[in-house]
Amino acid sequence: MLQISEILCTEEMIKTRVRQLGEQISKDYEGKTLYVIGILKGAAIFMADLVREIQIPVKIDYMSVSSYGNATHSSGAVRTYRDLDMDINGQHVLVVEDIVDTGLTMDFLKNSLYLRHPASLKVCAFLDKPAKRKIHLEIEYTGYTYSGEDFLVGYGLDAAEEGRNLPYIGTFK
Ligand code: IMP
Ligand code: MG
Repeated sequence: MLQISEILCTEEMIKTRVRQLGEQISKDYEGKTLYVIGILKGAAIFMADLVREIQIPVKIDYMSVSSYGNATHSSGAVRTYRDLDMDINGQHVLVVEDIVDTGLTMDFLKNSLYLRHPASLKVCAFLDKPAKRKIHLEIEYTGYTYSGEDFLVGYGLDAAEEGRNLPYIGTFK
């Protein structure tokens, strides 16, 4: 059984923040079509909520990447398991992630997507956990910043594949 020691984001907090992010993104990209790319598996739940709060036309696709290493520590090397179906050349792209920790996964993703010449490329991460950041990274849209170092679960985030379906986010002990 998964042990949650503290709840950081309640269901209500998540709902409110996702709505605000959707409003902000809709404003910023007004008159455009947005290509929203979710990073599997963690971002799938946030992504599903976020796109329904976006009021402009969107096209959605998913990528699956994983950093080598064990469950709670990334090694920095990233591998692509599933690539995009869509051609993003000349399009406005928003990459949606559950959490940015060291930043190595997102850095790899941005570099890989830039090579395909999008018109613009921004990042939306529900959680920013900067304590162990290893690389400078621009995150244009953040749900919440977590200043601690604990491992978080829920709302798409897993601990060894458990806890993704929790409607809140908590610390895992
Ligand atoms: P990064 O490359 O270190 O930024 O790690 C990014 C990936 O590691 C995220 O997409 C998550 O899948 C995973 N990750 C990092 N921190 C956590 C956490 O606290 N809980 C669950 N997954 C995490
Ligand atoms: Mg992930």
